[in-house]
Amino acid sequence: MTDGSATADLPPEVRDALARLSADYVAQLPGRLAAVRTHWEALRAGDAAAADPFLRAVHYLAGTGATFGRADVSDVANRLEALLSDAAPAAPDPAAAGPLVDALCATGGGFVRTFLVTGGCGFIGSHVADALTARGDAVRVLDDLSTGRRENLPDGVDLVVGDVADRALVGRVMAGVDGCFHLAAVASVQRGNEDWLGTHAANQTGTISVLDAARTARASGPVPVVYASSAAIYGDNDALPLTEAAAPRPLSAYGADKLGSELHAAVGWRVHGVPSVGLRFFNVYGPRQDPKSPYSGVIAIFTDLAAAGRPITINGDGSQTRDFVYVGDVVRLLLAAMDRAEGGSRVFNVCTGRVTTILDLARTVRDVSGSVSEIRHGPPRAADIQKSLGDPSAALAALGVEARTALSDGLRRTLGGPG
Ligand SMILES: NC(=O)c1ccc[n+]([C@@H]2O[C@H](COP(=O)([O-])OP(=O)(O)OC[C@H]3O[C@@H](n4cnc5c(N)ncnc54)[C@H](O)[C@@H]3O)[C@@H](O)[C@H]2O)c1
Repeated sequence: MTDGSATADLPPEVRDALARLSADYVAQLPGRLAAVRTHWEALRAGDAAAADPFLRAVHYLAGTGATFGRADVSDVANRLEALLSDAAPAAPDPAAAGPLVDALCATGGGFVRTFLVTGGCGFIGSHVADALTARGDAVRVLDDLSTGRRENLPDGVDLVVGDVADRALVGRVMAGVDGCFHLAAVASVQRGNEDWLGTHAANQTGTISVLDAARTARASGPVPVVYASSAAIYGDNDALPLTEAAAPRPLSAYGADKLGSELHAAVGWRVHGVPSVGLRFFNVYGPRQDPKSPYSGVIAIFTDLAAAGRPITINGDGSQTRDFVYVGDVVRLLLAAMDRAEGGSRVFNVCTGRVTTILDLARTVRDVSGSVSEIRHGPPRAADIQKSLGDPSAALAALGVEARTALSDGLRRTLGGPG
């Protein structure tokens, strides 16, 4: 991405570093590069007061590179900082700094952003880690491996094993990041009811720990947080399709903790200036959902049974309805939310707005997998919510993304096919 004219005056090793940068990182042009450019232009125009913010912006650039071992970025930025500091800290010498600044700016989208993903070894979190690394961002994961697996992570991710409710630890792993995707939770209604206090620590104290750390984790201002809420906050509200304005009536400790997390996120913005977006996931499905867990979602269980040719047992008559959303769509919404998480604390449904009965689901799973599994009916589950359907229009309007994947395509991908 750097061309000869911008880098001709640079030492060869810096030119090489810039060339490696452009090859490695293609997608993002973060705000810190814009800050370097803005302050630089002010300086060049004779505004001496721009010197300090310019140095800070460069320092920030260098710090980000250094923290994550991105030697290419940090090398160039450190040289720039050293050059300017040596010349005259209060009034950087444009003649000396010019070529380096031009070279940095010429790298265009070359600078890496860094994100923390809590719960990144889990089902949804590992897909977020995949998407971030694929576009060239650096990723840190905090996960206690209670349900997640190390093997779910792509290469190059920095994994810290620990508890998201450990405030000191969260402060350390969040230091200097550009944003936090907070997905760690005990993602099970049943477990929440069995271990009320234990799951509360992960599901609500964990969220407060993340929001609290986000206040001070980077020099340029609070870290934006995009976090997983859940359709469970609606409980037995049957005003279908559910909009974000529907009254929350959680029926479980899990739903109550997710609602509590939303309330704390609102406090996080009002009192502490932490920007956030909460996403109320409906029934998410896709590859890597663990079918062996006693708490796993119905699609993971059905696809596993169908693949083995074993009978698929439905609780009750199968007329219960759900809004199933494919994990790839969920990731697109998470990333779009982060891009827009600069101010406020908002919440959005993450759903398709399409209704599927459990009986239809069982049949579709069987068809898509080419299975001969028999469909059977067992006794209904007492605590089951009968109908669930979300309205996705607010997320589409605000984030510009909708969950498009058809159930049959998503199921094919879940089963390892091309969709
Ligand atoms: N899958 C769904 O349909 C669905 C629906 C609504 C909301 N959610 C929410 O989405 C998020 C991700 O869910 P998932 O389906 O990927 O579940 P998952 O169990 O696969 O992932 C959760 C991850 O968090 C980790 N974790 C749990 N407690 C932790 C703790 N105290 N400290 C650090 N890490 C911890 C687990 O090891 C796991 O890797 C959760 O917040 C969940 O409540 C999921």
